[in-house]
Amino acid sequence: MVEAYSPVAHGEALKNPAIAKMAEKYGVSIPQLCIAYDLQLGLVALPKTANPDHMKSNADICFTISDADMEILKHLPRIENYGEFGIFPVYGGKYKD
Ligand SMILES: NC(=O)c1ccc[n+]([C@@H]2O[C@H](COP(=O)([O-])OP(=O)(O)OC[C@H]3O[C@@H](n4cnc5c(N)ncnc54)[C@H](OP(=O)(O)O)[C@@H]3O)[C@@H](O)[C@H]2O)c1
Repeated sequence: MVEAYSPVAHGEALKNPAIAKMAEKYGVSIPQLCIAYDLQLGLVALPKTANPDHMKSNADICFTISDADMEILKHLPRIENYGEFGIFPVYGGKYKD
């Protein structure tokens, strides 16, 4: 089973306008959209939060992203700048696939 570490992109997904627009379309939070996306890809999603309310909403995934929107999400431009987290190889561009 493949595990999706950092499904909210260390928080960077929260700043992404395209992801925000899609989340708004479904009436869900950005982390919920990210987690649903991972689950629909057949991955285990491992979101981290220190906030109990976030933890509850992250576990409350009761919607399905359409096939068309999954394709849009799959082809969104790669986040190029992870700020302080760019030190990690996966965020620094070492792994491109
Ligand atoms: N073993 C490995 O190789 C490996 C690699 C990477 C990560 N991991 C682990 O995988 C987990 C992933 O954590 P991560 O920090 O890397 O990335 P993440 O889960 O993608 O992002 C965590 C960030 O998203 C925010 N967040 C989460 N849910 C939210 C919500 N509903 N609303 C608003 N903000 C929300 C959190 O802030 P709040 O606390 O404010 O909610 C935190 O700043 C961690 O346990 C990490 O240790 C393991």
